[in-house]
Parts: sequence; structure tokens; C-alpha cells
Amino acid sequence: MSKNNIAVNVEDLSKIYRLGLKEQTSEHFAEMLWSFVRSPVKNFRKYRSLYTFDDVDLAGDTAAGEQSDSILWALKGVSFSVKQGEVVGIIGGNGAGKSTLLKILSRITPPTRGSISIHGRVSSLLEVGTGFHPELTGRENVFLNGTILGMRRKEVTRKFDEIVAFSDVEKFLDTPVKRYSSGMRVRLAFAVAAHLEPEILIVDEVLAVGDAAFQQKCMNKMQDVGQEGRTVLFVSHNMPAVTSLCDRVIWLDHGQKVTEGPAQEIVGKYLLEGVDTTAHRVWKDSSSAPAGEFARLREVRVVKKGGDVTGHYCIQEPVGIEMEYEVLKGGEVMLPHFRIRNDNGILVFVTLDHDPEWYQRPRPAGRYISTVWIPGNLLNEGPHFVECNLITRHPEAPQFHEVDVVSFAITGNMEPGTARGDWPGRLKGIVSPALEWETQYRKE
Ligand SMILES: Nc1ncnc2c1ncn2[C@@H]1O[C@H](COP(=O)(O)OP(=O)(O)O)[C@@H](O)[C@H]1O
Ligand SMILES: [Mg+2]
Repeated sequence: MSKNNIAVNVEDLSKIYRLGLKEQTSEHFAEMLWSFVRSPVKNFRKYRSLYTFDDVDLAGDTAAGEQSDSILWALKGVSFSVKQGEVVGIIGGNGAGKSTLLKILSRITPPTRGSISIHGRVSSLLEVGTGFHPELTGRENVFLNGTILGMRRKEVTRKFDEIVAFSDVEKFLDTPVKRYSSGMRVRLAFAVAAHLEPEILIVDEVLAVGDAAFQQKCMNKMQDVGQEGRTVLFVSHNMPAVTSLCDRVIWLDHGQKVTEGPAQEIVGKYLLEGVDTTAHRVWKDSSSAPAGEFARLREVRVVKKGGDVTGHYCIQEPVGIEMEYEVLKGGEVMLPHFRIRNDNGILVFVTLDHDPEWYQRPRPAGRYISTVWIPGNLLNEGPHFVECNLITRHPEAPQFHEVDVVSFAITGNMEPGTARGDWPGRLKGIVSPALEWETQYRKE
């Protein structure tokens, strides 16, 4: 990788916030008096300590995101680099440090430790209305932002109509921005950030504001910016937007980088966070394997077409679930089956083995692998859990019954042919089938 095609390089970046100490309440008069006497010294110490970090062990191993002695590591030891023209998503829960990272990259706040280097003109959209002067009109703010980005008046004038058309605030162009609704502000801010030809576009959660049509417009615009070879760094909680837009994803948690990699894989891992089952379970020791008189479970796997074991699937991809088991005593008719639940514990469906070769046929002793294929475009986005069962028929006797034995995550995207299509919001529901629609039109 040649050094000159790196757009953003972040090395060992940390940011500490010193939280104001909470005032202690006194229960007794004497205590109150004592604290009054002490307070000037204490307040001075508090004031000083809000701005200095001499007492913080910067190289130490205080866990990131943890508060110790009113110190909060909003970011701790984060490193990554982004190539020119890459569209990179940054994901993570609330308080993960995403906004702090974007603020440091936009030079709004300095890092406590570590370094960043940025090659290219940055335009960022961090919070609704940042970068706007409230007393200036929409028109004046567009020019102000252009100047800040180092553009000539002529260049801004050339882009002006596009910005106005995109933001849909034409009627309010000569109104001070402080009179704008938050929706109008974010529309104008996005239009400015995206159209003033930045080399690096940094966007924080813009899709959380605004209606579906606006979200769609932003997505398309960011896609264009990426395709024009410019760099985009994009924070969002909207996972389908992230997987559709981004080549690569960086996952932050409590100020630290958990992992980074291809968008769909990392989003899938993020969705399965805290889920302590995996895509593959094996019982190596037969004595501890779930078993009945006639059958014993040995392995359960979630597989892609072709056989690769993985827990991450695009919504249009088929998911294979395999159980590998031994028939201990021959002569019984067996019925392997799975139950699939979603992350709310709702049973999505039950599927029974109807393989014609074995249906109602007694099975000889030996080792079997039974696989079921869940078609693409059926399950909705999110984590899913598998219950693996096998019973004998005539009489019906359970052999094994393992709840949440394996899990997998379905990630959405905005490809044509999915239930969502280009709709950016989440589609509720237990399933998300891509169904055929027909419309008849009659001119009256
Ligand atoms: N100005 C600040 N002062 C003190 N703590 C802050 C400040 N800004 C952010 N934090 C804290 O830093 C952590 C990371 O915040 P943030 O970067 O906003 O996370 P995210 O955008 O991922 O939700 C949070 O615990 C937050 O409370
Ligand atoms: Mg944030």
C-alpha cells in the first residue's frame, strides 16, 4: 500500500474526559461546616484537575470506557487507516466513542494522546446545525462553509443551485438559520457538506434525522461521493445503510476498536454481540453428547452454499443448518427437526426432515448428516437461534433436544430483489419475504 493513497491515518488515538466530581451531600451539621471550610481548596483542585491529566496513568491499563477517579476514556488506543476513495462505516453502541473520533478527525477537539494524519480537504457533518452560524441566513451560511473549506466564491456559486435543490429549503434561503426546523438544518447541512466537493466527507448519524425520502437522498449522494473516488467516513446505527454503503467497517466499543473488516461480516458480528452461542457446536466426547436410546447428537453447523461454516448471512443468501448424529440402534423411523427463533425469542418456524429417501423409513445404525436450507429473502434482519431436535416415531420418543445450540445473523442491504429494495428504514416483522406485487391501473 503506497503511502500517498492513504486519506486518513490514526495511530494509538486516545481521548480522556475528566468528569466534574459530584458534590457530596452532608448529613450532619458538623460535616457540613467542615466541608464548607474545605471547599475552596477542593474546588481549586477540581478546577485544576478538569484540565490536566498529570495524575492519569496514560500508559496504564485502566479499561477503556471505564470511569476511574472521574476519568473517562472516550477513546483508548485506536489505530486504523483509510485509503483514498474508501467508504468506511463506524459502528458501535451508545458511548462507544464514534462521535469523539469524528470530532477529533474534524479537528473540533484535540486528542489526549496519539496522532492523526489527514490527506485531503475535510468536510464534516457532525451534529444538526454545527458549522452554521445561527444569525446568518441559509444563503450566507452556504458561502461561509465554502470559504471555510477553502473554495472560491465562484466555485461555491457554481454549486449553489445544486445545494438548494438538494436541501429543499429554497423558500427559506434568506431566513436566519436559527429559525429553521432541525429537519431543514440537517438537510441544508448535508447538502453543503456533500456538494462542496470535499476530498474526505465525514458524516455522523445524519440518517437518524429526516424522513425516509431524505435518508434515501443522503444515501445516494454518499454513494456518488464514494464512486467519484472521494473518501467517506460514516457513523450510523442503520445497519442496512452501513452494509449497502460501506466497503469496510470499524467497530468501536467502550472507546476501543473491537475489530474491522468487510462491512457485512463486521455488522453480522456486531449483531451477534453478547450472544454466547456460535455457528458451530461439536461434542468431541461422546459420553457428554446429548443422546437418547437410539440417537446421539455430535455436531450442529450453520453453513453457506458450498459448505463454509459461518454465522453471517446477507438477507438474500440461503442459510444451511446441519445436524450430524449417530444412530446407535438401527430399525427406528426418525424425525430430525429444527426450530428457529429470533432475538425476541419468537418462534419463526419449525422445520421437519421430509427427505423422501428417509421419510417413514427405518434407519440403520451409523453416522448421518441432515441439512435444511432456509431460502434467501425469508428471514428478517437480526440474530437467529437454532433449536436442534430428533425424535423417533411409533412410538414418539425424544432423543435429543438442544435449545439455542447455534446462532447466526442476517444482515440487510438495499439491493434490488430484496423485500426492502431501496427503502432505507428497517422493515418490521418476523419474516421479510421478497414478494411479487402487481398493480392495475384504469384511467377513469
Ligand atoms: N464533552 C464531554 N465531556 C465528558 N464526557 C464526554 C464528552 N463527550 C463525550 N463524552 C463521553 O465519552 C464517551 C464517548 O462518547 P461519544 O463519542 O459521543 O460516543 P458515541 O458517539 O459512540 O455514542 C461517552 O461515555 C460520553 O459520555
Ligand atoms: Mg455519537
